[in-house]
Amino acid sequence: MFNVVFVCLGNICRSPMAEAIFKKMVEEEGLSYSFNITSYATSDCEQGNPVYPPAARVLREKGYNFTHRAKQISLSQIKNADYVLCMDRSNFSSLLSIAGTGYMDKIYLLGHFLPEKIIIDDPWYTNDFERTYNEIYSSCKAFLNHLKSTHAKALNYDKFE
Ligand code: 4NP
Repeated sequence: MFNVVFVCLGNICRSPMAEAIFKKMVEEEGLSYSFNITSYATSDCEQGNPVYPPAARVLREKGYNFTHRAKQISLSQIKNADYVLCMDRSNFSSLLSIAGTGYMDKIYLLGHFLPEKIIIDDPWYTNDFERTYNEIYSSCKAFLNHLKSTHAKALNYDKFE
């Protein structure tokens, strides 16, 4: 079982998009039982709020179902995670300041699983939610392919498909 935690600044745009996308992706591959997938904010600025409407719209248009309320990450979620996947360098340094250097080996930029190593910019500022969706989708695919090639024996495919 892999405990995967997606992280962004507010937990109302990028990380809940990643949570919904990755949950559906592993479900479609028959791998749901191998993962626990959540998302968190580095800040408390949107605590308790639902997914930001333009991000929710893009997800719903593409067939994703989700319920979500923003929540701030704490050290215990980092300790319990196998992979903490954040979106940009500011998220990364916030996580380091929460966790210290002891947990650096499990904190990654999600977009760095792609060969071109992208930063997933904040659509709160770019207003391009389609681009954000595409970047998160392709990065999640690359992350899953990484797990399949490096941890094949730890992935249990659903028995009854
Ligand atoms: P997110 O986007 O980090 O992708 O959820 C943001 C959401 C809210 C704010 C900033 C970024 N804000 O400043 O409230």
